[in-house]
Amino acid sequence: MATSMMEITNVSEYEKLAKERLPKMVYDYYSSGAEDQWTLEENRNCFSRILFRPRILIDVSQIDMTTTVLGFNISMPIMIAPTAMQKMAHPEGELATARAASSAGTIMTLSSWATSSVEEVASTGNGIRFFQLYVMRDRNVVTQLVKRAEESGFKAIALTVDTPRLGRREADIKNRFTLPPYLTIKNFEGLDIGKIDRTNDSALAVYVSSQVDRSLNWKDVEWLQTITKLPILLKGVLTAEDARLAVQAGAAGIIVSNHGARQLDYVPATIMALEEVVKAVQGRIPVFLDGGVRRGTDVFKALALGASGVFIGRPIVFSLAVHGEAGVRKVLQMLRDEFELTMALSGCRSIKEISRNHVTTEWETFRISPKL
Ligand code: GLV
Repeated sequence: MATSMMEITNVSEYEKLAKERLPKMVYDYYSSGAEDQWTLEENRNCFSRILFRPRILIDVSQIDMTTTVLGFNISMPIMIAPTAMQKMAHPEGELATARAASSAGTIMTLSSWATSSVEEVASTGNGIRFFQLYVMRDRNVVTQLVKRAEESGFKAIALTVDTPRLGRREADIKNRFTLPPYLTIKNFEGLDIGKIDRTNDSALAVYVSSQVDRSLNWKDVEWLQTITKLPILLKGVLTAEDARLAVQAGAAGIIVSNHGARQLDYVPATIMALEEVVKAVQGRIPVFLDGGVRRGTDVFKALALGASGVFIGRPIVFSLAVHGEAGVRKVLQMLRDEFELTMALSGCRSIKEISRNHVTTEWETFRISPKL
């Protein structure tokens, strides 16, 4: 029986409903992580090891969640991460997501591997949008695509830097994951790379091996700046060393990401890696986080540890699968409401009042007092 939106009380419920509704191959593609899926669990678990230090007796009758990202004003520090091939989840795919993001007053990031083109997404109306870029081997294709994103009004490039090859996702291998034949990678329509051929393996892994430029390196971050004026966020930074190089290479920001735990397994949860990156960057560029954010409390914890905002991935595709555009709006609304409540109960009236002192981490407690 269809579940009405009224019955949904939190973001995670959408995952269970999407599992009932989606073909197994599609659900497995969205939900799985790499190999043992250790990092996949950690992305969630690590949030539960961070505890609050709420402040009391502060007038929280007015809460302001608005913030600015790369100079753009948004209604809350919760944005939409790029997730590929959203028309597998719902016939309106990325177009529904774009409309939901703009009605929530926040940013959507469109995947290079979207099943809707940059132009189609732009035609849904106004909205602040970023474009996630995979650098393909054919640099002419990349140059054209970046130009099209720019002309379609996209405001930044989120360059994925953790995928010289695709992580080993065993469910996709077992299911011989491929894009359903009635869909294409719309940004590349008309080119060979617009299709993902059926193979005896994960067809996406085969696609990445043949099409994505695995020679991508720091010099290419500079090259990208020669072909676009858009600010470039590096998505997939997990260490202080790379954070410093990102600043030197002219990145406008960093997204601390482990690609939803879909690339290298046994990297730390993003919420654990965040502070190292924030400290290395020393406020020179903003640092964002994605991975495992399912609650407003998670958003608050990320901000307390120095993030300027978070991006949400899987909950968007799961809510899209269940309730289309309205589902995505509901997810954004639930996160907004929970985040607002967390701010109130912690004694924070604005984003800038959220500080490191509002949270503590279990590993810190152990260091201070091992016998506790
Ligand atoms: C695409 O970016 C994926 O992780 O499958």
